[in-house]
Amino acid sequence: MAKDHFLDQNNLPKHIAIIMDGNGRWAKQKNKSRIFGHRNGVKAVRETVEYAAEIGINYLTLYAFSTENWQRPKKEVSGLMSLLVSTIRSETKTLMENNIKLSSIGNMNMLPEKCKKELNESIKLTSGNTKLNLILALSYSSRWEIKNAIRKIIGDGLKVNEISEDIIEQYLTTKNVPDPELLIRTSGENRVSNFLLWQIAYTEFYFCKKFWPDFRKEDLKCAILEYQKRERRFGKTD
Ligand code: FPP
Repeated sequence: MAKDHFLDQNNLPKHIAIIMDGNGRWAKQKNKSRIFGHRNGVKAVRETVEYAAEIGINYLTLYAFSTENWQRPKKEVSGLMSLLVSTIRSETKTLMENNIKLSSIGNMNMLPEKCKKELNESIKLTSGNTKLNLILALSYSSRWEIKNAIRKIIGDGLKVNEISEDIIEQYLTTKNVPDPELLIRTSGENRVSNFLLWQIAYTEFYFCKKFWPDFRKEDLKCAILEYQKRERRFGKTD
């Protein structure tokens, strides 16, 4: 797809965050297993990353696995972890070709060794890339992140009057990442599910009815076009 003239290039969100939801329901509609849904979700990930890089988005954060997702049936969790390993393995070459830098947020200690290894290798290999920052939220939840930040702040012995919003941001896993201007959730669910709660204070929300495996470049474009129509006042008047 060539540079898109319908999008206002001067009003692109720098950071888009996505709650990729509906893989299970998509599969159920087809009488298939949940992991079949997740596998098809990878296609949507590929399209989304490709389009975001193409139009010049700087940061894309994908909610791939939440802290709460560990409570899913063992078979689904191990299927998702294997999918993650195989996807990172097969896509790292494409990340390199497209100058995309991979990183992750979340409790990496919870991930199986194989997954951590694959992820760390790809993160290391892509660390010099400069076009798009692709951030995978893995074993992530916002309350976990905020609790950890508070623990570290206390552990570092900061005084009460030293604590500012800027300082708190430095203790979050998204340190040095701008807040997302746009948050997209697929599958018709209109909630935030413990994702980037601090960071979305002034984020525009876009809820898409499609299940994640059906999400395509056109849908991302629609979300951005809708974002570009919004007036952002940040609590002030226009
Ligand atoms: C939510 O759908 C989706 C997930 C919990 C996993 C998302 C994972 C992928 C798209 C594949 C791997 C991703 C990467 C980045 C390699 P759900 O299972 O909650 O669907 P449901 O609400 O219909 O049950």
